[in-house]
Amino acid sequence: MSRALDLARRAWGDTHPNPMVGALIVEKGEVVAEGWHARDGGPHAERAALAALGRAPKPGATMVVTLEPCSTHGRTGACTEAIIAAGIGRVVVGATDPNPDHAGRGLDVLRAAGIEVRSGVLARECADLNLIFNHWIATGGPLFAAKVATTLDGKIACRTGDSRWITNELSRTDVMRWRRLFPAIAVGAGTVVHDNPRLTSRIEGREEMCPWRFIFDGRLRTVVDRSMAGVYSDEFRERTIVVTTDHSGEGYIKKLHSWGVNVWVFQSPNQRVPIDAFRKRCVEERIAGVYFEGGAEVVSEFLQQRQLDYLFHYRAPIVLADVKAKPAFSGLRTEKLAQAVRLAEVRHEQFGDDALVRGRLVYPEKLFVDETTFSLG
Ligand SMILES: NC(=O)c1ccc[n+]([C@@H]2O[C@H](COP(=O)([O-])OP(=O)(O)OC[C@H]3O[C@@H](n4cnc5c(N)ncnc54)[C@H](OP(=O)(O)O)[C@@H]3O)[C@@H](O)[C@H]2O)c1
Repeated sequence: MSRALDLARRAWGDTHPNPMVGALIVEKGEVVAEGWHARDGGPHAERAALAALGRAPKPGATMVVTLEPCSTHGRTGACTEAIIAAGIGRVVVGATDPNPDHAGRGLDVLRAAGIEVRSGVLARECADLNLIFNHWIATGGPLFAAKVATTLDGKIACRTGDSRWITNELSRTDVMRWRRLFPAIAVGAGTVVHDNPRLTSRIEGREEMCPWRFIFDGRLRTVVDRSMAGVYSDEFRERTIVVTTDHSGEGYIKKLHSWGVNVWVFQSPNQRVPIDAFRKRCVEERIAGVYFEGGAEVVSEFLQQRQLDYLFHYRAPIVLADVKAKPAFSGLRTEKLAQAVRLAEVRHEQFGDDALVRGRLVYPEKLFVDETTFSLG
């Protein structure tokens, strides 16, 4: 299954809106064929492995696959049918189908055809591989994830704003991988003004790739002139979407359009985009996941409104010990640990001396907003 996971990862970022899946065929303890789902619309991993074998599997052959084989007719036909027709004797499955209406159905179909089925092998790793896809299928909405890079005492910048770089190069390379996986990245106006980030995925040996780039700017203060932000003038500017409110000046919106930049305008009682309306628009546009890279204000606002689903927290072995340094999150009044936001399905990874903790956010019944430190604008 570890090998099948490695095969699945070869298509990292290339399969949207489909999941990454890897499969192999084993005869008498030997791997004789490998396959993976390379891109949306292409053959599923099971069919790719059968095609790679190029002959009928020997009687009693085993197929190992990271995700439960599909049992419904999509564009490529049900994989359960292909497995049965090929005469596979045993199927070993990692994760079950994330759609609760389908979960286990593929396994039942295989069993009914007399195939021995074992499921749940490295299930956690196999499910983790498709965390965006799984969330989209299970909830019908996008996965909103935040990435923060902090010191050991949870700061994202010094009191002067100095923030480059807190984490090491290995951590930053990992961020590039996630940028490739998420269909969209988002930042606030503050981060654009302060850092002018490129917001593309740059991985050695691969072509630079640009997901959708959301800029949250409720009053279009980043739109003074084009040179203010690379995301408005670079070769990927058609992938930039400015997210703003109906309080923004028509002239600025026209200006963005004339540069080839997209604009989503939301009705709002103030200069903040209502986050639930933004989520709804992502569903309409079939954007399955957004990777929020800050800054502190945007991610705190999302957290405060229970709109963050997932957190990537990179921590560097640095201590600022300065109460005026910028914290990653603020705005809540958490008086008891029982009121804290927690992570579930936690995973730990090490990048040199840095550590990544990531997981799904679990909110307490009630969040208490601290009106003295946070304003919604
Ligand atoms: N270490 C890290 O992981 C990391 C990552 C990114 C950034 N940073 C650092 O964080 C700092 C920037 O953070 P920041 O908190 O100052 O700024 P920010 O969160 O990037 O941007 C805040 C601004 O975004 C706009 N905004 C926020 N929510 C909005 C909404 N719902 N609708 C529309 N617009 C919205 C508002 O603009 P208006 O006020 O104009 O309405 C707000 O002032 C920089 O120092 C940067 O280097 C660190």
